[in-house]
Amino acid sequence: MEPQQLGFTPQRPVGWLAPLLLLNTGLRTLFAILFGAYLDKRELQNALSGDSFQQPGTDGELWLDYVADLGDGFHATYSVAYLLAQPQLEVGGRVLPRGQVLLMGGDQVYPVANGDSYENRTKGPYRAALPQPPATGPRPTLFALPGNHDWYDGLTAFLRLFARRKDGHIGGWRTQQRRSYFAVELPANWWLFGIDEQFGAYIDDPQLLYFEKAARNLGPDDRVILMTPSPTWVKAAKKPEAYDAVDYFIRTILAPTGAHVRLLVSGDMHHYARYTGEDRDLITCGGGGAYLLATHQLPETLTVPPKETLTRSASRSRDYSLVSRFPSAAQSRRMSWGVFGKLPARNTGFATMLGIVHTLTMLAMAGAAGQSGTIQRLFSIPLVLMLVLIMTGAVLFAQPPGASSDKHARHWILGLAHGFAQIALAAGGTWVWLQLPFRDWAWPGPLAVAAVLYGPLIAYLAAQLVALYLLIASFFDVNVNELFAGQGIEDAKSFLRLHIAADGTLTVHPIGIDKICRKWVADPHGPPDSPWLRPDEPLRTHLIEPPIIVDGPAEAAPAPAPTPATSGTATPGTATPGTATPGTATSGAATSGAATPGTATPGTATSGAATPGTATPGTATPGTATPGTATPGTATSGTATPGTATPGTATPGTATSGTATPGTAAP
Ligand SMILES: [Fe+2]
Repeated sequence: MEPQQLGFTPQRPVGWLAPLLLLNTGLRTLFAILFGAYLDKRELQNALSGDSFQQPGTDGELWLDYVADLGDGFHATYSVAYLLAQPQLEVGGRVLPRGQVLLMGGDQVYPVANGDSYENRTKGPYRAALPQPPATGPRPTLFALPGNHDWYDGLTAFLRLFARRKDGHIGGWRTQQRRSYFAVELPANWWLFGIDEQFGAYIDDPQLLYFEKAARNLGPDDRVILMTPSPTWVKAAKKPEAYDAVDYFIRTILAPTGAHVRLLVSGDMHHYARYTGEDRDLITCGGGGAYLLATHQLPETLTVPPKETLTRSASRSRDYSLVSRFPSAAQSRRMSWGVFGKLPARNTGFATMLGIVHTLTMLAMAGAAGQSGTIQRLFSIPLVLMLVLIMTGAVLFAQPPGASSDKHARHWILGLAHGFAQIALAAGGTWVWLQLPFRDWAWPGPLAVAAVLYGPLIAYLAAQLVALYLLIASFFDVNVNELFAGQGIEDAKSFLRLHIAADGTLTVHPIGIDKICRKWVADPHGPPDSPWLRPDEPLRTHLIEPPIIVDGPAEAAPAPAPTPATSGTATPGTATPGTATPGTATSGAATSGAATPGTATPGTATSGAATPGTATPGTATPGTATPGTATPGTATSGTATPGTATPGTATPGTATSGTATPGTAAP
């Protein structure tokens, strides 16, 4: 179909190393950061409606889809949009109906936000996938959270598209939000909170007020899915303060309500990764369309919040381990090697820039060697200028924004080594040039040869050297993003399909697409709600890992007490986390001070709920106090003294206390 018929122009994937784009993105990032501080659009949103939303689902159950990092090349974006728009998908032997709610997790457009880009890269493909509301069933709703790329115009285009007051919709999906963040009440005591962090800086006051108001409806029986624009739990491994804003939000807005944050979900890193811990799952799923990012460099374990954070009142740190990723570490490692072929092919502008810089350097070197020939007299560039340019470029390329200073050394070393390697290549090229007869040809012979022969050849070699540098640097955890951005891998996409059952069970289905579709067949005469373009061959999906049961029923019956509580014998720390049966009580749930074994009520006594400050030593008598009583605000750390609380006797299936030793339990 032609753009006129589609109503938008399908876009090619962004070439991330294109020199102008690098410059443009860099400048816009700078402006967004600089001026964002002066005019934070979120502050203005205070004037907009501050209501939270309800999505009660059908008969008490609800399906939700989650996709992030979507507005890139058409084929990848539309492949995912097409699957999301289908009335149902059969994945791993299960039939999963389309989400009644579609959550977009950030980076809805690339490389920078503006009306045209959203139209061509996001709205157009999604409208083509679901042109009209479904003929049967309820109309799906769309909520979107801005990522850093949505922020590059200060959120103007984002709010225009996703927070329209009148008849807001994208294809068949209707938009409801009025601000760049939202709280949505879901069925079975579940809530969805989507927070706008604006480059991870902080959460603005109107936003905190908005969520404080919404949080007044939450209680200890409620569970929360928290959407954040970036997986700061992963980023905090390198930059401990990255998680501070999210931790602050959980600590000050959600924890006081007693509600349990059971799932954190984010895009921003373009792959699937799940970390699990005693209290919650942390999922990154940025597979909506943008270039694939490595998974083999992900930390196997995380401590969240990191112990190194400077925030003095941070929540208690917990450990999380990486349990699943897509693509696999082995696949990801293999893909790294593709950089030699894909980098020059996907980044012709970048290679051209390298060719020009190298050709000019060769001329300068030849001039410095006193054998300049005709051409040098026309292009007299000081050699030192070119050398400084190459070294500066190579070092800047190796400096990721915000790398902590102790890790900066390796960036400097690798950047300098890369710079020297490029200069060595230029010297080699010059030597070869000087051996050849072209330089003494009559004008404009040497210039023509330099431009037509030397330039392209040296451009290719220099691009290969950059590829080699990226591969080596990635072993030292430097420029890993560029190693993959430079390849622009469109395959290996992912999204989540979540289900809240009427009994309160939340199941997450992580769906992977090994290969996107690149050939589409127009179907303009189908029903109004059917896609305009269909894949030439069926798009295959699979479950990245078995469905994840995040939480069991909210109102579970009390667990039987296999062993009576023994007074005076249990010592803090003898019961270990992990004995609690999944889906009932959560491990490490009961905090010492009030929780003793025997009568824990699954799903009620969780450590997230116990807030310090109210239980007094001696209230938890061994053998009488139960984990079921460790409701928020009753169990305390620091006040419960060893000997009164007996965490050690917690039994499997109830609440366990191996982590909740007197004096250490945290909110
Ligand atoms: Fe992204």
